[in-house]
Amino acid sequence: MAFNPEKFIEEAKKEIINKISGRRAIIALSGGVDSMVAATLTAKSIPNLTAVFVDTGLVRKGEPRYVERVAEQEGINLRIVDAKEEFLSALEGISEPEEKRKIIGELFIRIFERIAREENADFLVQGTIAPDWIESGEGGRRTIKSHHNVGGLPEKMHIKLCEPLRELYKHEVRLVGKTLGFPEEVFNRQPFPGPGLAVRVVGKITRKKIEIVRDACFVVETEIEKAVKQEKMEKPWQYFAAVLPVKTVGVAGDERTYKYPVVVRAVGSLDGMTANFSEIPYEVLKIISTRITNEIPHVGRVFFDLTNKPPGTIEME
Ligand code: XMP
Repeated sequence: MAFNPEKFIEEAKKEIINKISGRRAIIALSGGVDSMVAATLTAKSIPNLTAVFVDTGLVRKGEPRYVERVAEQEGINLRIVDAKEEFLSALEGISEPEEKRKIIGELFIRIFERIAREENADFLVQGTIAPDWIESGEGGRRTIKSHHNVGGLPEKMHIKLCEPLRELYKHEVRLVGKTLGFPEEVFNRQPFPGPGLAVRVVGKITRKKIEIVRDACFVVETEIEKAVKQEKMEKPWQYFAAVLPVKTVGVAGDERTYKYPVVVRAVGSLDGMTANFSEIPYEVLKIISTRITNEIPHVGRVFFDLTNKPPGTIEME
């Protein structure tokens, strides 16, 4: 049977009221469509909701300002927590992807527990969707990767979870967002992983590499969005950059350089469970490559990822 967003909205509101009624909740707002939809449904169901955006230092360029603007548009009461130092110092030097995810999942929960105490809240609402728990190995499956909001959570938590979107896939969440009246830039925004830029620094995390990949992601996003607007290509499902843990030799003027390579990734997908790499016109790739090597001093080479999912995953870690 076709997914009916109106029916889902009514049922989700009832579920939220049943679960939380009479008590207070905070919601983890990441800036993505999942948590925006979960926040709006919760705000329509219970009074006194506080949305919390944690600035982990691993977010997209300009993200805190974007979240502030959208929360205001949707009438959601927002609190921004600056946890950059906490996250970056816990992650510095960590290489193993699952270890990164566990550290991030645990830090998020400890911060939310702290905020919940200050706000007198018993519940944490999360925008968890079906692929998050499927890939994290719930329901008897093997773990592909521990999504920070499921498999990355600590065993002992002092807060109860409410996850109204748990059974939905991304395209269904987008339909709910559209039905709730979100602008296109919000309901059609490309996904961004909860562990953020930490999983786009392949291997060992350093502050420098986080800055490199943030700037590289910004160039990829800007140039692909420009090309889509100019109708040079279709909008991919997701498009970003990652930095690799090796250095390669290059040349600048008559000097030898030794710098990091960046990988550009763009994929088409329906629900993130499988994906095909997108065909990007060469003229767009050329602009992306030139901008990245000209504007980011520590990058010496740009690659394009030609891998589908499977056998790859969308993110590189
Ligand atoms: P993969 O890399 O598993 O990604 O093919 C599928 C989709 O999920 C996003 N992703 C995450 N989202 N927490 C999230 O909220 C996570 O830990 C996480 N890991 C991957 C990824 O960006 C893609 O859209």
